[in-house]
Amino acid sequence: MSQRVLYLFICGAGPASRISDMVTLAHQEGWSVYCIATPAAVEHFLDIPALEHITGHPVRTTYRKPGDEPLPKADGVIVAPATYNTINKWAAGISDTYALNQLAELTGLGVTIVVLPFVNQALAANRVFTRSVEELRHAGVRVLFGPGEFEPHPPRTGGQVLDTYPWDRALKALTR
Ligand SMILES: Cc1cc2nc3c(=O)[nH]c(=O)nc-3n(C[C@H](O)[C@H](O)[C@H](O)COP(=O)(O)O)c2cc1C
Repeated sequence: MSQRVLYLFICGAGPASRISDMVTLAHQEGWSVYCIATPAAVEHFLDIPALEHITGHPVRTTYRKPGDEPLPKADGVIVAPATYNTINKWAAGISDTYALNQLAELTGLGVTIVVLPFVNQALAANRVFTRSVEELRHAGVRVLFGPGEFEPHPPRTGGQVLDTYPWDRALKALTR
């Protein structure tokens, strides 16, 4: 039986430095993982050769060039860590990175999408963020934000909560 295809969108926040944890969990659940990273994730957090080695696939950061293999069709999509920036821009319809453009298309196609944010309490307190989460939920996207899901941490403590970032909840939400 062929493996299910997971698109894993990675934004520029602390848990991106531990994205191999997510890939390992997804492999254990039988997913083949294709990563799409934002420019901020690449610049500050990711070891691209290491990620390509563990997934066995190129990491997409921009549009396909002639001759590049297209990605297989996604059975599920996870955005983790999802930043304040990407959540707000996606909800507002902005498409100025490859990742945002692909998320807009996948949302429009009705593919199952789970979002696991990583934002501190100060960012999360902005009304625009609440509106963006609501907007994405209205579009059918499962945003794991709130009690029992991702709960924001105090500013400047992100490094202390990386160990408990709930990657597994995103995978569970995908199949529920
Ligand atoms: C070291 C570092 C840590 C960051 N942590 C966060 C974070 O936890 N949450 C967040 O929303 N943005 C965080 N940012 C800011 C984002 O990287 C920034 O808003 C960027 O524009 C996000 O781009 P993207 O959404 O395309 O990945 C962090 C930036 C740096 C350099």
